[in-house]
Amino acid sequence: MRVPVLAGNWKMYKTAGESAAFAKGFLPLVAGVSGVEIVLAPPFPSIATLSAALKGSGVRVASQNVHFASEGAYTGEVSPAMVKDAGATHCIIGHSERRQYFAEDDASVNRKVRAALAAGLTPILCLGETLSEREGGKAFDVVSRQLRDGVREISAGEAAKILLAYEPVWAIGTGKTATPEQAQEVHGFLRARMKEIWGEAGANVRVLYGGSVKPDNIAALMAKEDIDGALVGGASLSPESFARIVKFQ
Ligand code: PGA
Repeated sequence: MRVPVLAGNWKMYKTAGESAAFAKGFLPLVAGVSGVEIVLAPPFPSIATLSAALKGSGVRVASQNVHFASEGAYTGEVSPAMVKDAGATHCIIGHSERRQYFAEDDASVNRKVRAALAAGLTPILCLGETLSEREGGKAFDVVSRQLRDGVREISAGEAAKILLAYEPVWAIGTGKTATPEQAQEVHGFLRARMKEIWGEAGANVRVLYGGSVKPDNIAALMAKEDIDGALVGGASLSPESFARIVKFQ
């Protein structure tokens, strides 16, 4: 039984004060919800405030990135232990915006996933093909490589602690969602690949879909066998909209 995960990625939006205001509006809207895991990923400076505002609610907090070292002379970077200390339990790793604008590659993503696991954080490993890769018939090759290289040296035991997020780059922030069928095709493929890598443990890894998820398309996506949740950008910024996504059932 794979418990659904609904995660909000706030990207570079919301100050600490705005994140606390979100929590105040959001928690009453999801007070009766059970059987799902809810995660919110604010910018680094809001992690502590948001964690405090959500305390006791069961809603978890993620960072949007981490560095792979535990400490050191890395100006501008933040370690897994630091985000954990601030209250995060999860961290997004390898989001396509980081791969595109900050030169992250599969090797650095792998180092970050391993560092997050070592620090006791749940990594949300993002992967997905660009439009030209999809149009060139390379979507499956690309996600297969991103998975294989992103999880190098991660054991089956550790795999149980990972979340995967399939986010086709052409669907992020564009309003152009993959159809439930297109998403299911890739999710099913990723699950089969994870089974090859980790055996049965691989079959249990939850795979979230991301890319223009909205209150009115979440139910159709979640109805698909291998879609275990969503990583939501724009539609997670308002308490009302994200609560509707959380209450998709
Ligand atoms: P979007 O972003 O929902 O705004 O398309 C998703 C993401 O980048 O995680």
